[in-house]
Amino acid sequence: MTQAASFFDKHVFFCCNQRAPGESCCNNFGATEIKNYAKDKIKALGLSGDGKIRINQAGCLGRCDDGPVLVVYPEAVWYTYIDKDDIDEIVDSHLVNGNIVSRLKLD
Ligand code: FES
Repeated sequence: MTQAASFFDKHVFFCCNQRAPGESCCNNFGATEIKNYAKDKIKALGLSGDGKIRINQAGCLGRCDDGPVLVVYPEAVWYTYIDKDDIDEIVDSHLVNGNIVSRLKLD
């Protein structure tokens, strides 16, 4: 059986969930700002669009204790991150060159 090609080469979901004050969630770590940074970077590199890379905001992805988290499909590789430097590394290494960033990867 053949498998249909993915619509996007890489589809990235950032948890941007915001909970009530005092409750743990990815947006407490600046997830929305970081997601916007990633989206702008992909666009600036000319990598957004059909067959390329898509950055999406997601609600809770169910891994709150590991947050902030993002997941890259079709590989289903999960990452955590601290800052924009980490996002730069994920973009340059994984999204552009296909090399998983093991230091940021979650099991
Ligand atoms: S709040 Fe981000 S995974 Fe649940």
